[in-house]
Amino acid sequence: MALYSEKVMDHFLHPRNVGVIADADGVGEVGNAKCGDIMKIYLKFDENQNVQDVKFETFGCGSAIASSSMATEMIMGKPLSQVLELTNKAVTEALDGLPAHKLHCSVLAEEAIKAAVKDYYDKNGIEYDPAMFAQLEDCENCDIH
Ligand code: FES
Repeated sequence: MALYSEKVMDHFLHPRNVGVIADADGVGEVGNAKCGDIMKIYLKFDENQNVQDVKFETFGCGSAIASSSMATEMIMGKPLSQVLELTNKAVTEALDGLPAHKLHCSVLAEEAIKAAVKDYYDKNGIEYDPAMFAQLEDCENCDIH
């Protein structure tokens, strides 16, 4: 069996939603200190808090690029509540799996999206339960931020 699924290869070779949103409502950047990969997600919401646009920049491995691409497709047009529910497991499943040693790449996608939502909340003075982003606080302590 091939190490990577056809979907992983497709999203790696033809990534969707690559780029920057200059007037993004929220921007999230996370990294993995071990592999050094960095992922940045830009989110733009419409007046009903649905994702109007989402773009990513990923400086990392093929699995991280494929995960970002798939994750952005999964949240495009979705309400904010569903954006927060996106898990790395769902991204991995949508990609028809990742090798075990590449699962952390999909975690970056989930964390970058959550970081972008947190940024949106912070910029707009929207109150939230910090526990929602506890995972990110750990990440912010890592040495590549
Ligand atoms: Fe670290 Fe892929 S090897 S994000």
